[in-house]
Amino acid sequence: YTRTPLIAGNWKMHMDHFQAVSLVQKLSWTLTDHDHDFDKVQVAVFPPFTDLRSVQTLTMADKLELTYGAQDVSQFDAGAYTGDISGDFLKKLACTYVLIGHSERRSIHQESDDVVAAKLQAALRHDLTPILCVGEGLETRQAGQHVDFTLQQLRTALQDVDAAAVAELVIAYEPVWAIGTGEVAGPADAQEMGAAIRQELAALYDTETAQAIRVLYGGSVKADNVAAIMRERDIDGVLVGGASLDDEEFANIVRFEH
Ligand code: G3H
Repeated sequence: YTRTPLIAGNWKMHMDHFQAVSLVQKLSWTLTDHDHDFDKVQVAVFPPFTDLRSVQTLTMADKLELTYGAQDVSQFDAGAYTGDISGDFLKKLACTYVLIGHSERRSIHQESDDVVAAKLQAALRHDLTPILCVGEGLETRQAGQHVDFTLQQLRTALQDVDAAAVAELVIAYEPVWAIGTGEVAGPADAQEMGAAIRQELAALYDTETAQAIRVLYGGSVKADNVAAIMRERDIDGVLVGGASLDDEEFANIVRFEH
C-alpha cells in the first residue's frame, strides 16, 4: 500500500492575515528552492479563519502547490448560529481539509464526541477532507487505557460514516500530554496507536480501507524528531503546531527525508 505522506501545519490562534501571507510565501519559496515534490510529500497549512481568503488569493495567484484547510467547522450548514463558520464557506475558499475534534476544541470548548461526529458529517457534506483528531490525556495514558480511550473516540466519530466516505478521511493521533509541552511521544508510541487505529478501521470497515487511510502523529513534532516518527510503518505524516509557525523549521519538517 502506498499512502502519500502529509505534513500539516496547524497555526492555531497565531498569525494575522498579513503574517499569514508572508509565512506562506517564505515557506513556498524555500520548498521550491529545494525542488520539493508536492506529489511525493503533500503539505497543508491550517491558518485561522480570518486568514483563509488571503491564503487562497496568494496560492491562486502564484499557483502554489501547497494546500490549506481550516481548524474547525460548524456542524450546521447555515442559519442563526452566531460565530459559526459553515463547510460551505470553507469550500468556497477552496479549502482542501478541515481539522475535526482537535483536543483544544474538545477541552476548551467542551466539544463532545457527538459534536465531533456531527462536524465530521458536515465536512463530508461539503466535500472537505476531514482530519479527525483523537488522543488521550496524561491520566488515561498513565492508567494504561490510552488505546481503548482513543479507539472509543474514533468509533464515536465514525458512527455514521460509511465505507466510501471513510476512505476520504485522515486521522491524526495527538496524545494531549504531548501537545505544546515539548514532550514528544516516542516513535514506538506513535506506531502502537497507528497500528491500533488501522486494526480498528479494518474491523469497522475492511482491510483495504484501513490500509488506504492516512494516520498522522501530532505533539511536539520538530525538524529534529520528525524523521524517526516518519519511519514508523503505520504513521503517514505529522500534524505540527508550534514548529509550523517558523518557515525554515516547518520546511525542514516537510523535507524530513533529507
Ligand atoms: O495540531 C497540532 C498539535 O496540537 C501539536 O501541537 O506541535 O505545538 O505540540 P505542537
